[in-house]
Amino acid sequence: MTATCWTRTQDNDGIVWLMLDRPGSSANALSKLVLEELDSILRELALAVPRGLVIGSAKTSGFIAGADIKEFTTLGSVDEARRLVRAGQSVFDRLEALPCPTVAMIEGFALGGGLELALACRHRVALDDGRLTLGLPEVMLGIHPGFGGTVRSVRLLGAANALDLMLTGRNLRADKARKIGLVDALARDADSLKTLARDFVLNPRAPYRPPLLQRALSWAPVRPFVKPRLVAQVRSKARQEHYPAPYALIDLWSKHGAQGAAAYEAEADSIAQLFLTPTARNLVRVFLLQDALKAQGDKTLKAAERVHVIGAGVMGADIAALCATRGLEVTLQDRDAAIVQTAIQQQHAKMAERIKDPTRRDAAIARLQADVDGARVGEADVVIEAIVERADVKRSVFAALEPRLKHDAILATNTSSIKLEELSSALQRPERLVGLHFFNPVAMMPLVEIVRGTSTDETTMNRAINLARRIDKLPLPCRSSPGFLVNRVLVPYMFEAMHAAQEGISKEIIDRAAMDFGMPVGPVELSDMVGLDVCLHVGTIVSNALGKTTPDLAPLQQLVAAGKLGKKSGEGLYHWVAGKPQRAPAAGVMPADLQDRLMLILANECVAALREGLVDREEWIDAGMIFGSGYAPFRGGPLQAARDRGVDECVQRLQELAARYGSRFTPDPGWERLRPSR
Ligand code: NAI
Repeated sequence: MTATCWTRTQDNDGIVWLMLDRPGSSANALSKLVLEELDSILRELALAVPRGLVIGSAKTSGFIAGADIKEFTTLGSVDEARRLVRAGQSVFDRLEALPCPTVAMIEGFALGGGLELALACRHRVALDDGRLTLGLPEVMLGIHPGFGGTVRSVRLLGAANALDLMLTGRNLRADKARKIGLVDALARDADSLKTLARDFVLNPRAPYRPPLLQRALSWAPVRPFVKPRLVAQVRSKARQEHYPAPYALIDLWSKHGAQGAAAYEAEADSIAQLFLTPTARNLVRVFLLQDALKAQGDKTLKAAERVHVIGAGVMGADIAALCATRGLEVTLQDRDAAIVQTAIQQQHAKMAERIKDPTRRDAAIARLQADVDGARVGEADVVIEAIVERADVKRSVFAALEPRLKHDAILATNTSSIKLEELSSALQRPERLVGLHFFNPVAMMPLVEIVRGTSTDETTMNRAINLARRIDKLPLPCRSSPGFLVNRVLVPYMFEAMHAAQEGISKEIIDRAAMDFGMPVGPVELSDMVGLDVCLHVGTIVSNALGKTTPDLAPLQQLVAAGKLGKKSGEGLYHWVAGKPQRAPAAGVMPADLQDRLMLILANECVAALREGLVDREEWIDAGMIFGSGYAPFRGGPLQAARDRGVDECVQRLQELAARYGSRFTPDPGWERLRPSR
């Protein structure tokens, strides 16, 4: 059989070099075909054993990014999943069983199935060029390693390090990987990496073994004492009914201790079950949605190199620093010189702390410059406005700015609630105004809404999308409308929490209802995190613009007037200590309909947004809410969750809630469109 994915050469020393270059993709993934071809090559090598085997990648991007996730989505039954996994396991068993030295030669990354392949080799050598990323991130997809990784990682690294890697899904950098024995040796450049791989073949040595203490953790009498601690650690992060995979991993290890053939079979049984869970299906869908968001934009357009940010407040300063960190030349302006200077100093200090590599750090800091008078605005490819949220002030700034812009510059506003049309009226060329709506805190929130006004042209949209990608954000194109997507949907959800609080339900219970559903924080805590002043401002604008009823806002106004703004002031709806809300212990009984009130009013608003065509694709609503608000990823987004529950049931429940609490629960007519389930 001629391999289409692998090239195989044999050098003068009798070493076989097997390089993976999967056609049609920029990064290698382990598809069925890749594994089948590897299997037949290994069968041949087992018959004519070479002096050694080195496995590497012919792609510049890196080694292997994991299994081909798209193939997971076609799995129809547990049996089919099990067969696929067992087939993969047998290929890696064959690799492990080769009687010659085997070396994985890793550049860039080895993730998931890619690292499992490397684990089946006797040795791993890697290129330490600052890019190296190794990990077993399967839990993020609701599964765990399935090609023997749950067994081999524990054997190689010991239970503590291996389980930490698998349970958290975290990535390891070169130093840490070397320290725990995941890689045997590091090289500084590509040539030395080859020399190193060759050396491991020509001078055979014993495989790495973890220290005795690490090995002892997996001994049968010890495991029952370790297991409860692992379970407690996992439980503090994720519930079993929401995320079963980490619990399954602990079970596998505690039953088999990574020993014997049964451990591999149990791994296959377990992952086959997990594949078919709604959690895995939804997490895989979210992963693919993330890829789809990333793939947007038009790479043929001129890339932005220089950015000018106006407004050095909470958002503007962070946006400027992010752009500089990602390699753009940035100037920062404010009406007040002292504000710019302070912002620049603070951001430089944060960059100095965050960026470890001194060369990268100094370069990033040098790229962020103060420009109080906007002297360099004419050099910018993109100007981002992040000043006070007042249409008249923004309009006058735009009017003064426009004549000074470069002819092909785009103008972006970070407004969170003003329609673009209200701002573009001040412009001669409104087609180059676009919304770049970042979320707070800028460095942490992955989403940026790319807002299209009625005048915004396609090139401007695409250039804004490209900029978002350039700074590693997920762009979500949406139409200019009150609150755009994420805030519009969050307002009724947070206001419903206020209604409930005004009925006497405790804030702890309200937050618990949302967290039981799977939200990372409840709506009360979220309000404090966003800032009560911001909630009040945006909430009122969005509610009024959409003609919604609002709860009594007087208590919120009083808090804001008293300077109790939430987390940032240490006092809001909660009292905050060291960045954590202080909750009362005994918080009362949870009303049976509370969770539905919160989650269905949110879903209803998503349906309205879809019906109004706020976004082009239905899935963008789910993606926007997950990446913009942290909506429970394992539920696949609000619309997916509604479909899973059943559209008819959601509608009926909303009608019941409308009868009990009022018209704010009236099902949106858009539910009709969702009815035919996929
Ligand atoms: P901020 O009040 O922290 O900062 C605004 C800055 O703009 C101040 O430093 C002020 O001196 C400056 N400024 C005001 N008028 C100016 C002018 N004419 N020329 C130059 N600079 C001027 O406000 P924040 O929170 O950073 O908000 C800025 C924008 O970002 C607003 O449109 C807001 O709606 C939006 N936004 C805010 C979010 C938040 O959570 N704070 C989230 C997403 C968007």
